[in-house]
Amino acid sequence: MGHRRIKIAIDGPAASGKSTTAREVAKRLGYLYIDSGAMYRAVTLMALRAGISTSEDEKVADIAAEIKISFRPNEERTEIYVNGEDVSRDIRTPRITANINPVAANFRVREILVEKQQELGKSGGVVMDGRDITTVVFPDAELKIFMNASPEERANRRVSELAGKNLSADYNAVLSSIKERDTADFTRAHGPLKQATDAVVIDTTLKSIEDQCREIYDLAMAIIEKNSSPEKN
Ligand code: CDP
Repeated sequence: MGHRRIKIAIDGPAASGKSTTAREVAKRLGYLYIDSGAMYRAVTLMALRAGISTSEDEKVADIAAEIKISFRPNEERTEIYVNGEDVSRDIRTPRITANINPVAANFRVREILVEKQQELGKSGGVVMDGRDITTVVFPDAELKIFMNASPEERANRRVSELAGKNLSADYNAVLSSIKERDTADFTRAHGPLKQATDAVVIDTTLKSIEDQCREIYDLAMAIIEKNSSPEKN
């Protein structure tokens, strides 16, 4: 049919269900899924491995500029590689999460990663999730979603997610880490999390994964069909 492949941008706070939903929607559309948060996590991991504190802005930005990040989709998920090594597991540990805020606030790191993200999505056919995707990375995305859920629900989800990976976590500690990250995400000077005026807002507190996937998939299909209708072209 050869329809024009669109860009779908999804933003929202930590553990709001973005990645699971974005990955599934990408799979149904046959699009590439890019988890932009994984890139900030990868820079954090490489800095810590090099013995650099994540608040050393210049050194961390140099690492971001030097490393080669790539995504390799398989049937299950999209794995993230740094310099040829699969770091998908290592970037999700609480240690990375605890050290990530200065990396996300680092202006040069953001510039470097935003450019890589724009490159990855430039020909469309991509679902990307993060904090600044609807506002900075792809302000021209055909479909923009802002996903939210209460902090308590998000903490519950994160605890189960970690449990599924055999990582134990205390609910109260996870809840306070989520609230701390919300504050950092909403208030940083560069690339803060904010609701784009033209984003569709989806509160997932009481929604199933299937419902939110279908909602986004339907919105995407409506746009794709409209784009490929004869009166438009
Ligand atoms: O999975 P979770 O929601 O915990 O976070 P993530 O999407 O893996 O993102 C990790 C961190 O990277 C977040 O706390 C954000 O501060 C930052 N981030 C960002 O600054 N910009 C993005 N586009 C994506 C993530």
